[in-house]
Amino acid sequence: MVKLSLLLLVIAAALALASPLGRELVVHERLNSVPHGFTAHGPAPQDKVLHLRLALVGKNPTGIEDELMEISTPGNPRYQQFLSKEEVEAFAAPTQETLTAVNAYLAEHGVTAKPASPAGDWLSIDVPVAKANELFGAQFTTFTHAASGSTSVRTLEYSIPANLQGHLDFVHPTIMFSSPLSKPPVITISRPNVAPQGNLTSDAVPASCTPYITPACLQALYGIPAAPASGTTNNTLAVSGFIGQYANRLDLSTFLSYARPDMSSGTSFTDASVDGGTNPQGKSNAGVEANLDTQYTVGVATGVPVSFISVGGDSTDGVFGFLDIVNYLGSLASVPTTFTTSYGADEYELTAGIAAKLCDAYAQLGARGTSIFFSSGDGGVSGSQSQSCTTFVPTFPSGCPYLTSVGGTSGVPETAWAYSSGGFSNIFSRPTYQSSAVSTYLTQLNTTYRGLYNASSRAYPDVAAQGDNVLIAYQGGFALVAGTSCSSPIFASFIALINDQLITAGKPPLGFLNPLLYAAPARVFNNITTGSNPGCGTSGFPAAAGWNPVTGLGTPNFAAFRTYVGLP
Ligand SMILES: *[C@@H]1O[C@H](CO)[C@@H](O)[C@H](O)[C@H]1NC(C)=O
Ligand SMILES: *[C@@H]1O[C@H](CO)[C@@H](O)[C@H](O)[C@H]1NC(C)=O
Ligand SMILES: *[C@@H]1O[C@H](CO)[C@@H](O)[C@H](O)[C@H]1NC(C)=O
Ligand SMILES: *[C@@H]1O[C@H](CO)[C@@H](O)[C@H](O)[C@H]1NC(C)=O
Ligand SMILES: *[C@@H]1O[C@H](CO)[C@@H](O)[C@H](O)[C@H]1NC(C)=O
Repeated sequence: MVKLSLLLLVIAAALALASPLGRELVVHERLNSVPHGFTAHGPAPQDKVLHLRLALVGKNPTGIEDELMEISTPGNPRYQQFLSKEEVEAFAAPTQETLTAVNAYLAEHGVTAKPASPAGDWLSIDVPVAKANELFGAQFTTFTHAASGSTSVRTLEYSIPANLQGHLDFVHPTIMFSSPLSKPPVITISRPNVAPQGNLTSDAVPASCTPYITPACLQALYGIPAAPASGTTNNTLAVSGFIGQYANRLDLSTFLSYARPDMSSGTSFTDASVDGGTNPQGKSNAGVEANLDTQYTVGVATGVPVSFISVGGDSTDGVFGFLDIVNYLGSLASVPTTFTTSYGADEYELTAGIAAKLCDAYAQLGARGTSIFFSSGDGGVSGSQSQSCTTFVPTFPSGCPYLTSVGGTSGVPETAWAYSSGGFSNIFSRPTYQSSAVSTYLTQLNTTYRGLYNASSRAYPDVAAQGDNVLIAYQGGFALVAGTSCSSPIFASFIALINDQLITAGKPPLGFLNPLLYAAPARVFNNITTGSNPGCGTSGFPAAAGWNPVTGLGTPNFAAFRTYVGLP
């Protein structure tokens, strides 16, 4: 039986090849011109192997988003009834008909796909350029990116067989042109070897948090407890690492000895690897970003198990490794309760298709009980990094409504950090949970900046934490850093400590936070009412009481948050 049907398939394939009538290719995605900053250098070598991902249409792609909203909205009968891995995957998984149709087309061309996501909604194929051109009626071309000097193979247009429409969502990376995550979004103000000044200890917090921000300062500002969490392994905090930014254990130990003398200086994190990522420990391997992210999780979420996930440079997902790391987390039997990422891009660098698929993957992870945090970006209204612009530049993935975007504050009393990115997505529409808060702000803003931002869409950030003048240990010395890169791990640590208390009280962790955050009484947040986020030749959005597109709902208050989530 098996052999017979295989034989039939081969004959069918041969016929189809001989008869182009059976397979009419239709243009699926197209760019009108080479994106700004990229230059074409002629056809890619025909034998160069491309690693392509095929996004398949899922059984019920929006279903998971509806589920997520139900289980994340306080008061809903299903609040915090997280879904299992299998339940989540059932929404994203393609139908058998879809799988059969796509695989049959590939088989006709002698190509075999491998599943590339836990739900099976992604396939991967490794094919030479010549074969990719044949499969997708494309002209894969070598492009260079002037600013970074990086080279990539992309096509300005590709096609798929008409009968795969409605089954094959898109092929990636094809028409997505992005600059690499070339440097961590951290502004190093002064490094290395800034001599620690003053005598900072946890029980002698300078009221002003001068001369710089430390864990002791954050404990004082936000009421974060110094007492260790229970350490239950049911509550883990995952920190992502990219672009060869490595987290150094000796620097962490130096940091803890200095800034957390009440903790064991041997407290550390575990390592995890995606795409062959490593975490070498040589002094010069230490990265500013990775050190910051591990020091402000291990050093703030006292006693919570932290894992550092290093994504290797050989990621072939065509979207910085973001797709591979979320698929890795989704493949785990037990997901982390908090997950923080201090990397991002400008939203226009992603196609709407890949942005939606990543956002959907964050919804899946949230539905399983993970609170996901991303820094909002460091270019004010001009995007992830300061740049010239005529309209405001939203960042990714902060525009995804299924994660918590964290902006930055500066100084004590806190004011909006001037580089804190915030604004409005051009891809994702406004979720219900923030419609009232955002409307209130936009009414106050009135006509200011009208036309420079998308008034109908998802607004960010959601919350904020300190993002300026933050002390880290780095390559044997100390450094001061600034960026929403500081804010995301700090806010994640705050929630990790709340989750520890919930779990030890026999309650579920918080999971996707935003509906809970926007429904909170004002006392839960220190709203930030001064400062703005300049960019694009403007002074940017002004901060204001309540929600604003610089610092979101504000910075958190631990005692008020505990009470709000029902802790005694
Ligand atoms: C630090 O502590 C030492 C010894 O207790 C003291 O002499 C010194 O004045 C302190 N420095 C500051 C800046 O408080
Ligand atoms: C951790 O999870 C396991 C398995 O679900 C459960 O048996 C255990 O009670 C949990 N521990 C705590 C402290 O909640
Ligand atoms: C504004 O955002 C919506 C999503 O809410 C999107 O559909 C629309 O294309 C965006 N407009 C512009 C001009 O980008
Ligand atoms: C909004 O701006 C217009 C034009 O400047 C002004 O006439 C109007 O009074 C403003 N509305 C509010 C509510 O401030
Ligand atoms: C802003 O914070 C102040 C001081 O805590 C508080 O009284 C006020 O209600 C807050 N306003 C909003 C809109 O959150």
